[in-house]
Amino acid sequence: MQNFHQIVAEPFADVDRLIVSQLHSKVGLVENIGQYIVEAGGKRLRPLLTLLSAGALGDIENSHIKLAVVIEFIHTATLLHDDVVDLSQLRRGRPTANAQWGNAPSVLVGDFIYSRAFQMLVDIGDMDVMALLSDTTNTVAEGEVLQLTRAGQPDTSEDDYYAVIHSKTAVLFSAACRGAALISRKPEHADALETYGLQLGLAFQLIDDLLDYEGDPKETGKNIGDDLAEGKPTLPLIRAMQCASDTDAEIIRQAIANKDASHLHDILNIVRNCGALEYTRSAAETASHKAVEALNTLPDSPYRQTMQNLALEALARRS
Ligand code: IPE
Ligand code: IPE
Ligand code: MG
Ligand code: MG
Repeated sequence: MQNFHQIVAEPFADVDRLIVSQLHSKVGLVENIGQYIVEAGGKRLRPLLTLLSAGALGDIENSHIKLAVVIEFIHTATLLHDDVVDLSQLRRGRPTANAQWGNAPSVLVGDFIYSRAFQMLVDIGDMDVMALLSDTTNTVAEGEVLQLTRAGQPDTSEDDYYAVIHSKTAVLFSAACRGAALISRKPEHADALETYGLQLGLAFQLIDDLLDYEGDPKETGKNIGDDLAEGKPTLPLIRAMQCASDTDAEIIRQAIANKDASHLHDILNIVRNCGALEYTRSAAETASHKAVEALNTLPDSPYRQTMQNLALEALARRS
């Protein structure tokens, strides 16, 4: 991901500094958990999208830097809560905050980071951006709840699955891009950037769901099989239930219904052998190509080129 940050290295350094300074708190535990997650890094992909979108439309302003941090904070808060509900133990190559401190501190510090993001939005002082980000945050929360209601449900359809990933992941990517256009006062490019972000977000989550089966924890920094253990009917499983033999499909149905990852090895083989991983990858490719296409109406620039390359990299990513 590093070479993608190169073109916005300077404003990105401002983003990194602002992330650290905005996590200060007089309460030690907030500082400790905040520092812990920030030090672990993360790809900082969403703030990158805000800066690239801004660059593609003209100057990168101070408000873009703030918006980039707001977006990363909303993402970080979501992950803190997500790892509690997903019972995840590994994130960014280290124990999750819930594994390290327990559920209560993770939930509460997540709330701190969410509300800090909203304080910063007030500081930006743009009502349209505020509306965009409050709608987005609300949709992400709704998406996580929708996903919860689908967990343990092997009858989940592809449409149901897309509704979940649209809300929980793609809308934040799209807000990272659309928000930049609003701050740049270039509303004529807002829809194109929104579509780019949305399609990139879908591709990104599709690959994430693939990596939950075929990823390397050393690269992803997350455990494999987490989704199965949570009974999450993600696309690799939905597809495998359509194309595998009845006996194999039943093994998957039972694993989802019982939220049971004890047959992960067998299920991996089923998913692999019936082409469900390729199917998922191909769905990600379709979304990625739509993302690239959406940028055609933007003026040509090295920023736009980087965004197009990023959409292709999202398919190849291993982490
Ligand atoms: C993880 O997002 C959550 C998903 C939407 C799949 P990232 O993979 O961007 O997480 P970090 O910030 O790089 O750790
Ligand atoms: C993405 O879903 C999380 C959010 C968008 C909140 P996942 O549950 O798949 O993300 P990871 O795999 O834990 O990073
Ligand atoms: Mg999770
Ligand atoms: Mg995942």
